[in-house]
Amino acid sequence: MARLIISADGPEKFAVWKEAFAKAAPDLTVCSWYAPETHLLPSDYVLVWKPEADHYAALAQAKAILCTGAGVDHLLQHPHFPVHVPLVRMGGEQTAHLMADYVTWAAIGLLRDARTWAIQQNQHQWVYNGIARTSAEIRIGVMGLGHLGAHVATHLARVGFQVAGWKRSAASVPNVQVYVGQEALPEFLATTDILVNLLPSTPQTRGLVTYDFLKNLPRGAGFINVGRGEHVVQADLVQALDTGLLCGAVLDVVTPEPLPEQSPLWGHPRVTVTPHVASEASAYKQAEYVAQAIGQLERGETPALLCNPHTGY
Ligand code: GLV
Repeated sequence: MARLIISADGPEKFAVWKEAFAKAAPDLTVCSWYAPETHLLPSDYVLVWKPEADHYAALAQAKAILCTGAGVDHLLQHPHFPVHVPLVRMGGEQTAHLMADYVTWAAIGLLRDARTWAIQQNQHQWVYNGIARTSAEIRIGVMGLGHLGAHVATHLARVGFQVAGWKRSAASVPNVQVYVGQEALPEFLATTDILVNLLPSTPQTRGLVTYDFLKNLPRGAGFINVGRGEHVVQADLVQALDTGLLCGAVLDVVTPEPLPEQSPLWGHPRVTVTPHVASEASAYKQAEYVAQAIGQLERGETPALLCNPHTGY
């Protein structure tokens, strides 16, 4: 029977994981990475989020590593991450649905300028600012059509937005117009009223969103970042907002996190910041997903979100 060693979220989270796995996968043995009696064997699976620097040598001995994050850039960027060990990214129905809900909330917030309502309420001001424009009139462009991106795009189309997506390689997503590759990017951006970033963070995508990049969007477009803060040159984003290039931004990820007290993003009248909360599934749902992936690996199958360390996702 497989054994899972858990370091994710530190020693204090283990009790929560243990309970979740007892319900979701009672046959799986789970141990805390931090228990003195735990010694990792080559047949062990490990569940991690951000391992401490001195964990990497032992991780190299594991049978496979499962990450509680959908993004694994922090692991792959670590100089001692063992790229020969299979790495599985977080997925599952609830993770994707939470992301779709978050992006829908953010998109409708941008469409109706909900940030201004929040400011008005804070200042006890009753100023009429209704906007007669519906989701059906808005073109949303999702950058990154992987597991999460495809789910988000399909969900937005179901809500009633006009949805397009941009991806490095060809894909077909129901009710979504797919733009493929670098050469399709200008056209994709030129026809996007609200841009959603769900790209993986790789050397090719970090720093992609600059002022010049955002200039390709129709003037007054909205921006939602649920990828990584590193995709965005933050000073350029602020400039785009200040000059009216963008009407607003909803940011669940920033650089660095937590956002420093003095950051201009906190009080910016066109910016909504949330503390990287878009899509963390419950411990039970994550346990269910992890147990399923372990089952696949044990049977010699390939989990859908097995990471390719060369592409970074
Ligand atoms: C969070 O950002 C994740 O990668 O799941």
